[in-house]
Amino acid sequence: MKTQLLTQNDLKQASLIIKNGGLVAIPTETVYGLSANALNGKAVEKIFKAKGRPMDNPLIVHICNINDIYKLVSDFPEKARILAENFWPGALTMVLPKSNIIPFEVSAGLETVAIRFPSHPIAMKFIEECGCPLAAPSANLSGSPSPTTARHVMDDMNGKIDAVIDGGECDVGLESTVITLAENPPRLLRPGGVTLEEMEKIIGHIEVDNAVLNALKENQKAASPGMKYKHYAPKAKVILLRGSDENYIDFVNNIIDNNTIALCYDEDIPYIKIKKMSYGIKNDYISQAHRLFSVLREIDKDESTKLVYARCPDTTGMALAVYNRIIRAAGFEVIDIG
Ligand code: TXA
Ligand code: MG
Repeated sequence: MKTQLLTQNDLKQASLIIKNGGLVAIPTETVYGLSANALNGKAVEKIFKAKGRPMDNPLIVHICNINDIYKLVSDFPEKARILAENFWPGALTMVLPKSNIIPFEVSAGLETVAIRFPSHPIAMKFIEECGCPLAAPSANLSGSPSPTTARHVMDDMNGKIDAVIDGGECDVGLESTVITLAENPPRLLRPGGVTLEEMEKIIGHIEVDNAVLNALKENQKAASPGMKYKHYAPKAKVILLRGSDENYIDFVNNIIDNNTIALCYDEDIPYIKIKKMSYGIKNDYISQAHRLFSVLREIDKDESTKLVYARCPDTTGMALAVYNRIIRAAGFEVIDIG
C-alpha cells in the first residue's frame, strides 16, 4: 500500500478514505492519531493490524461537537458534563458507560468507551468532513514513542496506512489525560495534557489509579489496558536516575564507554562530558512534555547508543504525565543517586 502524504487542503479527499473504511493519520494537539470510522468495526480492526496493537486495548473515540456524545454513551454524569464544559475541546479523554452503537473492536469488549473532543483545528474540521466519530489511537507502532510530527508517523506507518495529514508539530507533545467517570469518585487512568490539579479544582477528589505511578504486578488487572504494556520505549535501554543536579552530572561524567547517552535538562548540557540530549527545561514541565517523545525517537537514530541515563522528572502538574511516560520507557528501572 502506498501511504499518501496530504495537507489540510486535502481533507475532502482524506474523508473519502475514511468513508471507504480506510485509515488516515491526523494531527491533534496532543500527538498524531491513526483514525478510522469509529462505527465501522471492520475499519477499526485495520488500526490494530497496522499498529501491531493487542486487540484487548480499547481505542479513544474522537468527536467534533459535544452533542455527538449522547449517542455514544449510555450515561453522561454531572461531573463528566462539568469536565467537558471546562476542558473540551482539549487534551482530556473521558471513559463513560458505552451505548450499543459502539463496535466491540473499539471498546475491546469493555462496557465503557473513551471519548475525546480534540481542539486541533485540522482534527476538528476532519471529523466534521467525515461525518462520523473517529476511533484513533496514537499513530505509532505499538510500543514505540507516540508521534508528534507527520515524519514520525511516516517512519512507523509508511506502507501500512492509506494517508497521513501533515499538520506540523503537535503542541502538547504527549497524549491526553484519561479519566474514568464510569465510577464515583472518578479515577485518573493516564495523566496527560490536562493536569490532575486542574480537574480536582473543578470536580473535587479524583482517585489516582495505581498503574499511573507503579508497575502492575504479574496477575493484576489493568483498569486502562494500555497501561499494562511496555510503552514509549526507544530501542536503547533507559534507566532513570533520581537525585540532585550535582549527583546526576557526577554519575554520568564517570561513564567511559561511548554507547551511553545522558538524557538531561537544558541546564545540565554545559556540564556533561558524555553524549547528551535534553528533554526540556528543568522546572518547565510543559517544555518537557513537548519534547520527550521526539527526543526518544532521536536517540534511536544513533545505533551505537545502547544505554540512556535519564533524569527522573517531578510528579506534580504536567510533570506527572512526563514521569508516567518515561518510567514506562525505562521499564520502571530507577536508581536513587541521592
Ligand atoms: O492524546 C491522545 O489521547 C491520543 C490522540 C490521538 O487522541 N490518543 C491516544 O490513544 O493516546 P491510545 O490508544 O494510544 O491510548 C488510549 C488509552 C490506552 O491506554 C487505552 O487502554 C485507554 O486509553 N482506554 C481506551 N478506552 C478505554 C476504556 N474504555 N477504559 C479504560 N481505558 C481505556
Ligand atoms: Mg498509544
